[in-house]
Amino acid sequence: MSPTNNETESHGLEGLTVAAFESRMAQEMEALIVRHGGKAVVAPSMREVPLTQNKAAFDFFETLQQGYVDVVIFMTGVGAKTLFKTLETKYAKSRVERAFRKAYMVARGPKPAKALQDFGLKASIVVPEPNTWKQILLVLDNYKPIKKLRVAVQEYGAPNAEFIQGLQDRGAQDVTAVPVYRWALPEDTRPLRDLIDSILHNEVQVALFTSATQIHHVIQLAAEMGQEDQIKDALSRMVVGSIGPVASEALKNYQIVPDFEPEHPKMGFLVKEAGEQAPEIFKTKKQSTPTMKAAAAPSMKKAPPVLKDSLFLKACRKEATEGTPIWIMRQAGRYLPGYRQIREMVSFLDLCKNPDLAAEVTVSAQEVLGVDAAILFADILLITEPLGFQLEFVENGGPVIRNPFRKPDDLKRLNPVDGASDLGYVMQAVKKIRSNLQSDIPLIGFAGAPFTLASYLLEGGGTKDYFHTRSVLGDIKVWDELMRKLVSATASYLNAQIDAGVQAVQLFDSWVGILAPDEFQRLVLPYLKMLIGGIKPGVPIIYFGTQTEPFFPWLKDTGATVIGVDWHVDLDKAWKQLGNVAIQGNLDPQILLTDPDKIRVEAEKILRMAGGRPGHIFNLGHGILPQTPVENALALVETVKNWKT
Ligand code: CP3
Repeated sequence: MSPTNNETESHGLEGLTVAAFESRMAQEMEALIVRHGGKAVVAPSMREVPLTQNKAAFDFFETLQQGYVDVVIFMTGVGAKTLFKTLETKYAKSRVERAFRKAYMVARGPKPAKALQDFGLKASIVVPEPNTWKQILLVLDNYKPIKKLRVAVQEYGAPNAEFIQGLQDRGAQDVTAVPVYRWALPEDTRPLRDLIDSILHNEVQVALFTSATQIHHVIQLAAEMGQEDQIKDALSRMVVGSIGPVASEALKNYQIVPDFEPEHPKMGFLVKEAGEQAPEIFKTKKQSTPTMKAAAAPSMKKAPPVLKDSLFLKACRKEATEGTPIWIMRQAGRYLPGYRQIREMVSFLDLCKNPDLAAEVTVSAQEVLGVDAAILFADILLITEPLGFQLEFVENGGPVIRNPFRKPDDLKRLNPVDGASDLGYVMQAVKKIRSNLQSDIPLIGFAGAPFTLASYLLEGGGTKDYFHTRSVLGDIKVWDELMRKLVSATASYLNAQIDAGVQAVQLFDSWVGILAPDEFQRLVLPYLKMLIGGIKPGVPIIYFGTQTEPFFPWLKDTGATVIGVDWHVDLDKAWKQLGNVAIQGNLDPQILLTDPDKIRVEAEKILRMAGGRPGHIFNLGHGILPQTPVENALALVETVKNWKT
């Protein structure tokens, strides 16, 4: 929790001390604040409560089932959803529905009404605007007088004593509060208490909230410390950034008026805009009386930008752009502390197969880095399973195929693959990512290119000598049939990703560089053309390989829209040889292990070589290394974003 500062960069936040309340993303948030010139104090404020630990929910359900509850009042959408999810961990859905139908169900507005509907239930009545607790009492008085009735109130966040009292005053026989929680305070609240203390001692100038729960928890803990009014006052004197309308509403409920909301409700934008606005707001606030605060309103939002006009897609089409787009190969991975935390809970393969987690990992990487595209979190080897192979990822050891392809007869083992049904979990992840991703950020889907995929199937994992691959390359009939089968499976897989919602696709041919030019021409090129020709038109296709310089004369004829190049070749030279294509690359990933100054120098060399030509997408020459400090990745993105052609 110690404040950190970056001595070399003091801009943006101008050295202000910035409080944030992230838990899983604490380190990423700290890096962002430091990157924007602030001192970061990040204290975790939330811990996820396993659904099965919501005892109050189960106790309530017992009485509901037995018919001892006449009226259920649903106070919030999140709470209602959590309640149903909790009950579903123990009971069949039909049983839960049946029990609720016995009661009169009041929804305090459209959000809980929607939660009920999503679960397959219908509210008996929806409380109209302004959805206040007084309004609920009014509605009950008119439509369902509760005298002698047994009432249960689903609560989320702070309990409302006045409301409960109001129900009791109306002669209800019994009023039960059913608190259901998705989030609790962390086990160890010391860091958060220390941060609250620092805020109370005026040692912090900016507070950034990225969820309503963070606000509830800060106030709750301050209240436990006997400092509720004091923390509200202290926050009102500071610059308060709120991620979006829900967090802002929570703040206002505690009489804290946020000073700004970012253009997009994302962590990266919040910190960036804090850098643009906080020093000025803080100066004004220091001079003004606290009551002026109420006049300040969150800054106005701009019209939403359009996906097809994104920097990345424009560059794929070789259109002129106002800046160079950047994304980073393997941008969601082990160098991110938030990713490592998720991986402590699930294996890599289980993570790929869990659409919720895969979406979270994909979207948070794009947001933390502030890059111009997201890449689906998956792996080039997932397709080997429906093809008929046993895939494993050994912890710290990489992929292993237990039953590799070893003899011509193994061709019979290869199943045809239907991407949409055989890799349905990937398509679910794509849909989830697309709906969670900022609307103007493109999503890149991907697959292994046929040669690299075949090498994995033949070798059964990583290799240095490509012994098995080389032996099949010598048998053109077997090779041809194997490649055709892989082309057909991969085309189906990529087209399914496109149907599910990706805006571009990348083919990874990481191993192709081991071949001689004539081998590439005979044994790889025809199948690449076949595959690219089989992908739905209108979607940019990026072909990436390493050590591909000897193949440049052929690459422009593959049909790929964008060619990804590694750092073994200078970008301007590559472009000359590749001709009229868009180009992606090509910083050596090792540079990201150095420091921000060196990174700036090396990245600018590449930008200079691109010379502002339309169609450059900045990237590394291969995947980001797990040892990369997050700050260094941020420094790269910032360099490219600041570059003016
Ligand atoms: O770019 C992204 O962020 C999207 C996700 C992505 C992963 N793998 C996740 C992953 C992508 C695009 C890939 C492609 C991939 N997978 C390639 C081609 C690109 C390249 O780097 O050459 C290859 C060869 C693979 C196969 C693979 N997957 C290997 C060799 C390994 C182990 C070595 C390593 O890099 O970790 C993996 C595992 C893997 N794939 C991880 C991730 C995040 C690490 C798994 C972990 O959490 O331990």
